[in-house]
Amino acid sequence: MLIIKLNATDSTNSYLKRLCGNELVTDYTAVMAKKQTNGRGQMGTVWSAQSAKNLTFSVYKDVSTYNLEHPFYISMATALALIKTLKSLSINKLSVKWPNDILSENKKICGILIENVVKQNKFASSIIGIGLNVNQVEFENLPQASSLRVVSGRVFDIDEVAQIIIKNLKYYFDMLKKDEFETLKNKYESCLFRKNKPSTFKDAEGVMFSGFIKGVSNSGCLQILLEDDIIKEFEFKTITLLY
Ligand code: BTN
Repeated sequence: MLIIKLNATDSTNSYLKRLCGNELVTDYTAVMAKKQTNGRGQMGTVWSAQSAKNLTFSVYKDVSTYNLEHPFYISMATALALIKTLKSLSINKLSVKWPNDILSENKKICGILIENVVKQNKFASSIIGIGLNVNQVEFENLPQASSLRVVSGRVFDIDEVAQIIIKNLKYYFDMLKKDEFETLKNKYESCLFRKNKPSTFKDAEGVMFSGFIKGVSNSGCLQILLEDDIIKEFEFKTITLLY
């Protein structure tokens, strides 16, 4: 397994994407950078992380032989691999804030940006970008962010954490390969942040509404039980969970 270590790049996702097609890049080839000058988050946001203190990396996954109907299963497998990794490091109170932010003690410690390549109407490969706050202790202006060090009081070896994540990505992608979709979805749903708790959301027009998170659909929609006792499915980007 190849891990390419860089001092700096624009974005490890972009770097790995540019490298795709090169014979160096095989399943689980990873790129790590101490610094990103154009780190990208979900929905076109910027991902900035304190250099060298955090894990900023991307993993190439070939899914061309997988029986994948929905790319959301790639997100689920990735989120679960992170939860398994953090549990093994004795990080407590973990949850997945839909679709794939990883929280500890209700604060975000990890963001995931997955970029899929589709060839001939099939998912061919994925670039799995992971930004994990590891040893950073100051989060100025980011009250909802935290790190492994803040929640545990311990300092972590970033390379070791990366190796464990890759091992656990293999574990969950092997499940996907064996079409164990139901098991994967059940596990993912059991980790959902605020599941079955009264919660408040905001829709795309800024209108607030209340409901209970019940689960996810196969395509990755969030299922919310609304006040009129109806479960409605919401697509990613159409709602925000406020509290
Ligand atoms: C998010 O929560 O918005 C997703 C953040 C993903 C950040 C990681 S850092 C490594 C990889 N390279 C990028 O440019 N983004 C992802």
